[in-house]
Amino acid sequence: MSGRLSDAWLEELRSRVSLEEVVSEYVPLKQKGRRFWGCCPFHNEKTPSFSVDSEAQLYYCFGCHKGGTVINFVMDLERMDFMDAVRLLADRAHMELPERSSQPGEAPANRDERERMYEANRVAARYYHDLLWTEEGAAALNYLYGRGLNDSDIRRFGLGASPKGWDGLLSHLEAQGFESALLEKAGLVVRRENRCFDMFRGRVMFPIINAQGRVLGFGGRAMGDAQPKYLNTAETPIFNKRLGLYGLNFVKKERSVGHLVLVEGYMDTVSLRKYGVQGVVATLGTALTEEQARLMKRYAPEVWISYDGDAAGQKAALRALDILDHQEIPARVIDYPAGMDPDDFIKANGLSGFEALPRHDSTSYRMIRARDGLNLAEQEGMTQYALRCCAILKNVKSPIDMENHLRRLVNETGYDREILLRQIGATAQAPAQQPARRRPTAERVASGVERAEQELISMLAAGLIPGKLLKPGDFTDETHRALVEWLLEGKPAGTYVESIGEEAARQKIMQAINYTPLPEEREKALEEAEECLRTIQKDRDSQRSEQIKQQINSASEEQKVEMLRRIMASMKDNED
Ligand code: UTP
Ligand code: MN
Repeated sequence: MSGRLSDAWLEELRSRVSLEEVVSEYVPLKQKGRRFWGCCPFHNEKTPSFSVDSEAQLYYCFGCHKGGTVINFVMDLERMDFMDAVRLLADRAHMELPERSSQPGEAPANRDERERMYEANRVAARYYHDLLWTEEGAAALNYLYGRGLNDSDIRRFGLGASPKGWDGLLSHLEAQGFESALLEKAGLVVRRENRCFDMFRGRVMFPIINAQGRVLGFGGRAMGDAQPKYLNTAETPIFNKRLGLYGLNFVKKERSVGHLVLVEGYMDTVSLRKYGVQGVVATLGTALTEEQARLMKRYAPEVWISYDGDAAGQKAALRALDILDHQEIPARVIDYPAGMDPDDFIKANGLSGFEALPRHDSTSYRMIRARDGLNLAEQEGMTQYALRCCAILKNVKSPIDMENHLRRLVNETGYDREILLRQIGATAQAPAQQPARRRPTAERVASGVERAEQELISMLAAGLIPGKLLKPGDFTDETHRALVEWLLEGKPAGTYVESIGEEAARQKIMQAINYTPLPEEREKALEEAEECLRTIQKDRDSQRSEQIKQQINSASEEQKVEMLRRIMASMKDNED
């Protein structure tokens, strides 16, 4: 990730911009010792648990565990990718980027071509928008008024009109120096029998804008019954309908929404937003993809699916749930009255109506859909329903969730809870019966080993204990071990943190670096360190003896004798 810029250059950048200065622009900070404190910009809180360590130049929130360097801060808060954050900070520090080849393997010509495509799309969006207020755009403007939008909505979303003729946009862009070959590649014009003409003609235009504010392409709605109803920009070097989302440019400006609202269409996005719903995004004429789910994860911790209340929408919602589950994104499904889509609904019922709609957790929603096509008044239908639900419940991981759904199913079907549990099946029960081989992480946290490792790391990073006291092998946790290896080489924590793209891992690292309370004097720190090492060692010993016990229990007589022989031998070795 940062590999393209040299570590030395990044170090220079980090030292030239002051983290507390950058943070102060978003959050008021108060100094206490070497830390500055404020309310965390990444989660809601009233008492400050967000801190900036002015020496280490790292931030960390003791509440939500987010943390990192100034580059991470800008990435997280401005929702930028690494290079964009670096560019912004370099600008601020009056530093030149070393060389402009930010994408290795990409020829400068291609990069420039992409830049020109962005530019062509931007000019096109402007052209379509301006056209709306002229004679040629009157039909489109009236269409939008008819859909309940006013001038300010239209401006906010940059909506437009494409002219009816064959080459309105083409001539406009050519007059500005864009070549037709580039416009063709950008999907703005098409070529047939060696003649170029506009891709979009006589349609209402929705510009698709990414989080960085760049126009990537368009969705164009027919005003009459022309087919297709929506025409979308084809695949281009800068636009891929499987990767992007409509409306991300707005989400970026909304700091920390609790959940995204995922809709099917452009109009749904515009309409929900008009009525004040936040975090609304839409897919671009395809079903939700894994890539889009991953993208959403960067903007909010949860996704609420808000698809049309018809059979197609319900089916699509189930598919979207599978994808969100696969990406481990908690999801809900908003349930619209039959046949309504978000746009119809909010127009009729307003924001308060929208907020009062039922929103089912994913399992409940799947159970509701399990009723489709069944007659629950008959035993046969009820049996099918119970079977379908048991198959759904097999995948529920949380015991409490399982209990809640199970209770409901008992109520609904009249089947005995034991019977249902048996149906849910061997696979769901197996883990509970088998003795856990390795202790789960949660238990390790409680055992104190995790804390001991964190304290050691914090003391090491703060220079309170000498490196020679530790070796990476002392650490059981892999993330911790890798970090310690790095620190023992005398390298700064910041560079390491920055290179960790995965949020969970980064939080874990930040948590380890920021263990509190730390002893103030070195002497006390040494004592603490020994105590920590003892805790780790004790845990290791007890795990080892647990392992041996299990081996002995499951061993044959012969194996037992052999084991005993080995133990005796190793004891003898230790005596020597
Ligand atoms: P809908 O037909 O539900 O559109 O398709 P909508 O948003 O409700 O549109 P209005 O209210 O009739 O104007 C949902 C989405 O599916 C894609 C578009 O992205 C659309 O927003 N779609 C639909 C297409 O790409 N092509 C089509 O022909 C139809
Ligand atoms: Mn619709």
